[in-house]
Amino acid sequence: MRREVARNTQGQALESNMPSKLKRHTLEEIKEGPALHAMEKIKRLRASIGRHGGDSVRDVRALRDGDDEAPRPAKVLVADPPWPFRDRLPGPGRGAVKHYNLLDMEALKAFSLPLVASDAWLFLWRVASMQREALDVAEAWGFTPKTELVWKKITKTGKRWFGMGHYLRAEHEVCLVCVRGQVKPALRNVRTMFEAPAGRHSAKPDAFYEIVEKLVPGGPYVELFARRQRPGWACLGDEAQGEGT
Ligand SMILES: C[S@@+](CC[C@H](N)C(=O)[O-])C[C@H]1O[C@@H](n2cnc3c(N)ncnc32)[C@H](O)[C@@H]1O
Repeated sequence: MRREVARNTQGQALESNMPSKLKRHTLEEIKEGPALHAMEKIKRLRASIGRHGGDSVRDVRALRDGDDEAPRPAKVLVADPPWPFRDRLPGPGRGAVKHYNLLDMEALKAFSLPLVASDAWLFLWRVASMQREALDVAEAWGFTPKTELVWKKITKTGKRWFGMGHYLRAEHEVCLVCVRGQVKPALRNVRTMFEAPAGRHSAKPDAFYEIVEKLVPGGPYVELFARRQRPGWACLGDEAQGEGT
């Protein structure tokens, strides 16, 4: 019987027992990439399909980006969402809407998450005027709030922070600590409150990320709605600078 043989642009034969989905992507890859590396790519694709259960589209993308491994699901999600404040505070710097785009509640609840492990943590920053909404977002994303982390804000010179607020002046922020599946903190001595200087509008301090990294060493860590990168993290957001955006 005649073997079916697909060929790349340089006439090298591709193996006939290759799954047709893989063959299609491989041929596309060969058309796009240098034909010299085609057979090496095929070998790596076949190995990675064995490893990950056959998601060849994802694997091809990972290879195209020069990455040997397909993405691992996030164990930790950090999110500081652009909550839809209804404040109409006067002045150029007062109120979130003057600093970045906001999302409405439906968009936040339906926000497209990266791949998240079935046993995972969500650290969700909330604002005082939208407590119920924060619980709704945690639930919509498949997490259960378990405890909270309070950031006691201070100035750069160590004085008590005197922020804005409608009824009371804000001196702290709250991050809901939510989980799904089976997770265990690596340390049992982390307190619910930490103190750190406030920086740029709504920026969260390094001390917070250090607590997360101590509680859940190794990640993988993903930050949504980020504005800056952190080594070892995938930081995503429409204002995020640099790699990982
Ligand atoms: C509360 S701020 C987060 C600030 C961040 N925690 C920091 O430390 O700088 C919310 C961020 O979400 C961004 N954002 C708004 N809509 C977005 C969207 N659809 N996708 C991604 N990021 C979005 C905003 O531009 C803003 O940078």
